[in-house]
Amino acid sequence: MSSRYIILVQLLVVLHLLRGIASKFEFTNIKCNSLDKEFDDFEYCYLKSVNRSYKYMSLKVNLYKIPITKVKVNFSLLKRFSGYKPFLYNFTVDACKFLSNRKSNPVVTYFHELFRAHSNMNHTCPFDHDIVLDKLSTKFVDQKITEVLPFPHGDYQLHTSWHAYGINRAEVDIYGTLSHNFEN
Ligand SMILES: *[C@@H]1O[C@H](CO)[C@@H](O)[C@H](O)[C@H]1NC(C)=O
Ligand SMILES: *[C@@H]1O[C@H](CO)[C@@H](O)[C@H](O)[C@H]1NC(C)=O
Ligand SMILES: *[C@@H]1O[C@H](CO)[C@@H](O)[C@H](O)[C@H]1NC(C)=O
Ligand SMILES: *[C@@H]1O[C@H](CO)[C@@H](O)[C@H](O)[C@H]1NC(C)=O
Repeated sequence: MSSRYIILVQLLVVLHLLRGIASKFEFTNIKCNSLDKEFDDFEYCYLKSVNRSYKYMSLKVNLYKIPITKVKVNFSLLKRFSGYKPFLYNFTVDACKFLSNRKSNPVVTYFHELFRAHSNMNHTCPFDHDIVLDKLSTKFVDQKITEVLPFPHGDYQLHTSWHAYGINRAEVDIYGTLSHNFEN
């Protein structure tokens, strides 16, 4: 499916389901799994609730075979109906190509912007250092999701698998809930 078609489908879903109701996003879980501990391992990977209004996730993956020059990432978004089912997005991106031209794919740009400012995955390849996601807060993601391009409410899972040189080295799953916020 072309990204233009996906955006059209998404807009139609939003028009049907959102109807101007304000939404609130919360992270509910994060899971990180190295599939090749000679290549990479997670130093930490957690979700932390500081108080009711401040919740964030952080992760750090140590890379043992630097520099890394070929990375592809599978992204799939799932939404819980009875069990998690594929929802709107399922694509593979050549991360090195994308990072050298961030305007090349609007859907990837959208996902990258959700974490770029809180990560050192902000430059072109090669990657010759550990990868960090630092205190990505629910509030930051909430603003990006609900103000820029709203989604229907529900429980979501973003599944990502990270391939270096054609081999799946790590998987990161991020879970979140988007609920209607009737207080607004
Ligand atoms: C939540 O914690 C943050 C960071 O410590 C602080 O800045 C904020 O004021 C706290 N909010 C509430 C409602 O306590
Ligand atoms: C994920 O990406 C890899 C590397 O490009 C590719 O070989 C594989 O088919 C993709 N898997 C899925 C489920 O899309
Ligand atoms: C994404 O697509 C790939 C290949 O087309 C498929 O194997 C995989 O199961 C899909 N993932 C989801 C979550 O639908
Ligand atoms: C990338 O992120 C790191 C760590 O936050 C920061 O020090 C660096 O200036 C950033 N580089 C770019 C090109 O934004």
